[in-house]
Amino acid sequence: MVLADPRLPDASAWALDPDLAYLNHGGFGATPLVVLQAQREWRAAMERNPTGFLVRELPELLEAARNRAAAFLGADPKGVVFVDNATTGTQTVIAQVRLVAGDEVLTTDHCYPAVLAQLNRAVAAAGAHLRVAPVRLPAQSTASVCEAVLSGLSKRTRLVVVDHVASCSGLVFPLEEIVTHCRGRGIPVLVDGAHAAGMLPVDLAGLGADFWVGNMHKWVCAPKASAVLHVAPQWRDALRPLVASHGLTLGYQPAFDWTGTHDPTAILAVPAALDFFDSAGWPRVRQHNNELARRGAELVAGRIGTSYPHVDALAAGMRLVPLATPLSEADARAMETRLLEKHRVVVPVTNHDGWRWLRVSAQLYNTVEDYERLADALTGTR
Ligand SMILES: Cc1ncc(COP(=O)(O)O)c(C=O)c1O
Repeated sequence: MVLADPRLPDASAWALDPDLAYLNHGGFGATPLVVLQAQREWRAAMERNPTGFLVRELPELLEAARNRAAAFLGADPKGVVFVDNATTGTQTVIAQVRLVAGDEVLTTDHCYPAVLAQLNRAVAAAGAHLRVAPVRLPAQSTASVCEAVLSGLSKRTRLVVVDHVASCSGLVFPLEEIVTHCRGRGIPVLVDGAHAAGMLPVDLAGLGADFWVGNMHKWVCAPKASAVLHVAPQWRDALRPLVASHGLTLGYQPAFDWTGTHDPTAILAVPAALDFFDSAGWPRVRQHNNELARRGAELVAGRIGTSYPHVDALAAGMRLVPLATPLSEADARAMETRLLEKHRVVVPVTNHDGWRWLRVSAQLYNTVEDYERLADALTGTR
């Protein structure tokens, strides 16, 4: 039983519509009121003197936010830059990996659609080949997932792109083993960590991946358009933003610091989001979310007559509920719409080997009643 923990913030700390059972934290995160307030204060400071703020104050403020994010991610601060979102981060890396005809890039069939599109475009332009390793669901063990990924490597593999936590499945990939193996063979690894920061303890220095991209707006609950790109030392002289910037020739971080006028307040509010969870205690938050996600998924599956063998080492705050029968994409979208409009439940139907999964998330604002409402809606008892 996941009991409400009085030491943890609850739904009253968020701006979410109280009428909704919001089970899609993984989609876009959701930002606590105090963090939105911090962002408003940064915006007010910027608008009092835009030139003074953006030209004089921002460099130091950015550095402070970057150092804070780096400490949280166990990263060398010199390797961290901010980008707007994970899609921009992965594209930045994929566009700059040198591929030639005959090369291979390896990813898995859990890869996020935008990242897959980036990879398809890159291999097509180079005459290279994209291998997509199947990682079957339900995943059985760390060893079987490693084996499924690594068996796709070949002598021609020039890049491996692997999720930290996959969108379609919530699967937590055993990255340490995968990265260590690839590094041993001299193959660079790009980790799509869109969901990892906040959901899992992250130690980028220990992990040693060549490139890691993660959103701060999802499980750190920072405002939207705050993502981190972390690059290992050996790539920092080479990797530059997609948009040539004022600082392009000044080095890795200066090149990313100012890529044209934008609103930096989401990034500047990252420390406020970290403060919010620091005071609750990250281990307690993660334990709550993992347990609630598992219990919620089991509750819904039990009520609709399906089951899923959850392996806790391979999952965290987002879990799958198998549908009794796979849907067409149109029917999956119709189910999402019906759940929202008729039952006020927000939950995605996801596609891995068919549109056959509900992906339920758990964040501090969720309660068991949210999953019960979903189960009631699916079984027609509501
Ligand atoms: C695994 C994964 N990668 C990349 C992304 C893209 O994130 P963004 O929309 O912030 O670019 C997502 C978004 O949900 C994701 O789940």
